[in-house]
Amino acid sequence: MSEVIVFGAGGRIGRAVAGEALRRGCGVTAVVRNPDRHGDLGAGGVRLRAGDVTDADAVARLAAGHDTAIHAAYDAGSPPGVFFPAAARALLSGLTQAGVGRLLVVGLSALLETPDGVRLLDTPAFPPQYRPFALDHAAGAAVLHDSPASLDWLVVSPAGDFGPDAPRHGGYRLSPADPASRVSPEDFALALLDETGSPRHHRVRIGVAPQRP
Ligand SMILES: NC(=O)c1ccc[n+]([C@@H]2O[C@H](COP(=O)([O-])OP(=O)(O)OC[C@H]3O[C@@H](n4cnc5c(N)ncnc54)[C@H](OP(=O)(O)O)[C@@H]3O)[C@@H](O)[C@H]2O)c1
Repeated sequence: MSEVIVFGAGGRIGRAVAGEALRRGCGVTAVVRNPDRHGDLGAGGVRLRAGDVTDADAVARLAAGHDTAIHAAYDAGSPPGVFFPAAARALLSGLTQAGVGRLLVVGLSALLETPDGVRLLDTPAFPPQYRPFALDHAAGAAVLHDSPASLDWLVVSPAGDFGPDAPRHGGYRLSPADPASRVSPEDFALALLDETGSPRHHRVRIGVAPQRP
């Protein structure tokens, strides 16, 4: 049985990911900052733990014994430029200490390339007000790009966005950046979990879109 630890398990995407991991029969550790606010996550045998993804010692202690770590955390209260690089550094250090070799990161579509090979972030239509947040994500990804080859990371992003009302197809396809695309968190979680048991992508960024009808 694969052992999976999810940081940010109380969030919109973290919950879908932890749920899909449990459905697949994985052993699941759900890490949140305050377990009292996420007591429901402990159902079905999920180990609910308190932890901060920017704390390398906490990452090392919590992640020991797992096969895959998933980073779905996002701190809206953090100053620009701080959270994602801090989390990436702590994960790199903590997972190395814990001997966990596989890291899956929930990323941002703005950093995917369009079919023309241009990052969505660099296209004329990209809203400038979202640029600082995208650069924060990019700084986190840069930490991973510079990491030793022993860390088998993968950044998985929606091709466009998550749709709160996007239908669940029970499948997905990989896609370049596509601003119009909306994938449900549940279908996105399928793509993420498919990269746990038999990983197909290594040290790259992939985009996920809904399965075509
Ligand atoms: N278009 C796109 O590409 C797109 C769209 C949406 C989201 N995303 C990305 O998807 C990821 C997940 O987003 P989401 O919508 O699921 O966010 P969310 O619902 O706000 O959940 C994020 C979770 O992270 C947790 N968290 C915050 N700081 C933490 C820390 N220091 N340590 C551990 N956990 C921490 C929060 O936990 P607490 O319960 O402790 O507050 C929260 O439950 C983000 O990276 C986001 O940027 C991408």
